[in-house]
Amino acid sequence: MEQSFAEIHRENYRRQANGYGIDEAFVSLLVESFYAKVRADKDLGPIFEGVIGDRWPAHLARMKTFWGAIALKTGDYHGRPMPAHLKLKQVEPWHFDRWLELFAQNLDEVSPTPEAKNFFNSRANNIARSLMTGMFYNPADDLKDLKP
Ligand code: HEM
Repeated sequence: MEQSFAEIHRENYRRQANGYGIDEAFVSLLVESFYAKVRADKDLGPIFEGVIGDRWPAHLARMKTFWGAIALKTGDYHGRPMPAHLKLKQVEPWHFDRWLELFAQNLDEVSPTPEAKNFFNSRANNIARSLMTGMFYNPADDLKDLKP
């Protein structure tokens, strides 16, 4: 049967990711090792523990699905990241700097290739920027600059 454009694209994308050493096993390792660091962090740890409590297995499973959908186009993540973060009133912009720092540190330790490291760091930075825009951007702050 003829493949659709989307199927061909997904296969090529997946093949390229596999070439970088990215597969389901690596996504699983990445998520497990990253959240071990997050939980041990004195600033981020308490925020995550407070919200997630005893739901860590479900959170880790969801994060594996999320990163699998991004890196391997599995198409099976159906969550909504923005509302999940908008409700976190205790989070400030500097927490995102720390999150990204830990994420990069962890990739330094576990990445199979430099390409895999760049791939995940760049996606994480873009998503962090988009979450921060939703959480913290207030157009009124820009208007203040326009006042004489
Ligand atoms: C300081 C930064 C961050 C904090 C404190 C934070 C915290 C959290 C918490 C506590 C949850 C669980 C919400 C719940 O189950 O009720 C969550 C979910 C999630 N986070 Fe973050 N997060 C941060 C940054 C990020 C970044 C940068 C990404 C992506 C690159 C991300 C991706 C996700 C995703 C995909 C979910 C699951 C959303 C869903 O499907 O319900 N988070 N986050």
